[in-house]
Amino acid sequence: MTHDRAALDALLTEKRRFAPPAEFAAAAVVSDPSVYERAEDFEAFWAGWAGELDWFEEWDTVLEWNPPHARWFDGGKLNVCHNCVDRHLDGPRRDRTALLWEGEPGDRRSFTYAELSREVGRFANVLRSLGVRKGDRVAIYLPMIPEAAFAMLACARIGAPHSVVFGGFSPDSLADRINDAEAGVLITADGGWRRGTTVPLKANADRAVARCPGIEHVLVVARGGLKDHPADMVDGRDHWYHELAAGVDDDCPAEVMDAEDILYILYTSGTTGKPKGVVHTTGGYLTQVHATTRTVFDLKDDDIYWCTADVGWVTGHSYVVYGPLAAGATVVMYEGAPDWPDRGRFWKICEDYGVTVFYTAPTAIRAFMQWGEEWVTRHDLTSLRLLGTVGEPINPEAWMWYHRVIGGERCPIVDTWWQTETGGIMITPLPGVTQTRPGSACRPFPGIEARLLNDAGEEVDAGYLAVTRPWPSMLRTIWGDDQRYRDTYWSRWDGVYFPGDGAKYDEDGYLWILGRVDDVLNVAGHRIGTMEVESALVEHAAVAEAAVVGKTHAVKGQAIAAFVTLMGGREGDEDLAAELKKHVAGAIGPIARPEAILFAADLPKTRSGKIMRRLLGDIAAGRALGDTTTLADPAVVQSLKERYEAKEG
Ligand code: WT7
Repeated sequence: MTHDRAALDALLTEKRRFAPPAEFAAAAVVSDPSVYERAEDFEAFWAGWAGELDWFEEWDTVLEWNPPHARWFDGGKLNVCHNCVDRHLDGPRRDRTALLWEGEPGDRRSFTYAELSREVGRFANVLRSLGVRKGDRVAIYLPMIPEAAFAMLACARIGAPHSVVFGGFSPDSLADRINDAEAGVLITADGGWRRGTTVPLKANADRAVARCPGIEHVLVVARGGLKDHPADMVDGRDHWYHELAAGVDDDCPAEVMDAEDILYILYTSGTTGKPKGVVHTTGGYLTQVHATTRTVFDLKDDDIYWCTADVGWVTGHSYVVYGPLAAGATVVMYEGAPDWPDRGRFWKICEDYGVTVFYTAPTAIRAFMQWGEEWVTRHDLTSLRLLGTVGEPINPEAWMWYHRVIGGERCPIVDTWWQTETGGIMITPLPGVTQTRPGSACRPFPGIEARLLNDAGEEVDAGYLAVTRPWPSMLRTIWGDDQRYRDTYWSRWDGVYFPGDGAKYDEDGYLWILGRVDDVLNVAGHRIGTMEVESALVEHAAVAEAAVVGKTHAVKGQAIAAFVTLMGGREGDEDLAAELKKHVAGAIGPIARPEAILFAADLPKTRSGKIMRRLLGDIAAGRALGDTTTLADPAVVQSLKERYEAKEG
């Protein structure tokens, strides 16, 4: 767990309480606490929410649960894109703004639901013209531009599961994901803006596709200026989106999908070197992301909603695209960095568009805190009425700053715990009901049941977080590896889901999520497996062995510290450390760049040869060393600790 003892004690003595403001509660989508009891019949509760969607055919059964496999709304038929777009066209939402987009350079585009429908229909027809059919996988590697949402919705429309890969991932990471999903089409852009320059997405995609025999077509959206250099397009393989779009019409019928047909695959890091393709399906997924968007973000028709996540992560799938569009919301989308051209950019966007509901990550909040209030206070943020956070535990200090400086002490904060695997929000306050506590995700969403268990499966006050009942937006399997699905999530207890987090109850039964209990790091809200970084390091010719741990970081929450032994007993120096950092960033992506590298003659190992990461974690955190009695050579760790402390000062 990422918290040390003292931080944990401080957390659990947090006594500040924030009840929903009366005015907020009076107008809230949910203001009656009896919703929790009513949802005890969880199948009926979720069926009620499913009924809010448009179904071509009603389901036969709400839930079929053959642990660890669930089928929700089996026999039901629907289309996710139809529910996010077409469903809104018959009423007053038709001419409401669906998307308000701003590029980093300041260019703007907006789309009503009627316009969105035409964009998505056109995109779907372009995919069809490339031969994409129901069930075919499509990889998406795009910046945060409207076409990212169009592409996802177009795939959903024609029943082609998408696999979105974050634009910050390296060519190798992209290639691994394309090959694992066996995608035949890749959608990318010639570039995207980040801190005043363009990220060379097409060049990265070319390097990836060189390793992907299954890719037949690369569809390229013109964004970054490459359009002026047509030589970079490979004849027969690469197509400009705008050229194909000019040749198709904008009307494309939505495929009739089974509730359990795959909507998308999204890769996430686990405890091995190979990312897992998390599989989400159609009916249950949309039911839960829609229900949570409406109730947790309290969305009303006049809200301007902004979730700052990139569509490359699950938050971007569930709470930029599918949840809010299913709810008929007006969604703000921004392409670039929060500190470009200055550190007030997010607050300028909130002011310019009159954002009412704002959802971001603790790492961003801590960066804003460091940058100083003056960047915030020069903008008018009085339109904001509700704030959300997700991605990692939020420290009470950051929560209080968010409440005071961004929320003007009037906006409830929803601290939402969930995962790529859970698909939708699982543990959260309801902003019109729950009295919140800074740093606590409060309690399971209605219909969700979570407990704290020990290894023996007994209930405890502090232990592993466990989800003890199936939920509609749960992952259904790991793409191509159902055994890994069983082993990773369902092998600790019988029929109970293991998310990999530790948590604690306070005396009133509020949940406090403490962080991962496995070899997964959470760096700036992004999940990175220690093994992935270790494999990247040992790929380098100079490296013999590597062990990676997390160390506390004021803004990122955790940063990566790597202990490395070199080939032939070679001694490392600053130049090699810099080279290795660059090597990892190149192999995985800049988010995986180690913050610190310490060269060691030897790593602490048990007598059976297992590297003791826990002790390395103690060293990186500057903690007293834990139990060293099982080590083959206790002197190794002591000398490492002294060297690490000398280096870090
Ligand atoms: C892991 C999941 C869910 C979208 C973003 C991350 C951590 C997430 C919280 C929270 C404490 C949180 C957990 C979880 N996490 N939200 N509100 N409080 N921890 O998705 O990459 O799948 O990571 O993020 O450790 O297991 P992800």
